[in-house]
Amino acid sequence: MRLAIGCDHVALDLKKEIIEYVESLGHEIEDLGPFTDERTDYPIYGQKVAKAVANKEYDRGILICGTGVGISIAANKVKGIRAVCCSEPYSAKLSRQHNDSNILAFGARVIGPELAKMIVKEWLDAEYEGGRHQRRVDMLAEIEAEGQDLEAYLKDVKINC
Ligand code: RB5
Repeated sequence: MRLAIGCDHVALDLKKEIIEYVESLGHEIEDLGPFTDERTDYPIYGQKVAKAVANKEYDRGILICGTGVGISIAANKVKGIRAVCCSEPYSAKLSRQHNDSNILAFGARVIGPELAKMIVKEWLDAEYEGGRHQRRVDMLAEIEAEGQDLEAYLKDVKINC
């Protein structure tokens, strides 16, 4: 898999460890910054990685800030992105299987490197299951499509799950 990674100034050390870990699993991962520990703003790198994933330059992305929250919110503002902020592996795995998450975020001030690696591994290995989940993922895209009201949308969609 080809991945992009980004962070803010809080998460540089963890980002380095995660890059090495992802490479050790046989994936390609490109660091989209930042490259110094100068204070920066998480929305910059959240958007950068999210745009690159949405444009299909990468299969998926990983984002790290202090909590993982700000940077995942930023990523989720980009059309086509389903970013998930996880502090444990179960949600990371299910976010792939059920929600087809394309960006994983976590917090360098929340979890340690070994738990972060476990979360990354579960997320990388899990496949989207499609099927009954597709209708709901389609609904997420409908919310994203400006002005679409879900109640109106659901009138035209067969309810089968
Ligand atoms: C930076 O101080 C901090 O706000 C940021 O890393 C992140 O936790 C935001 O959600």
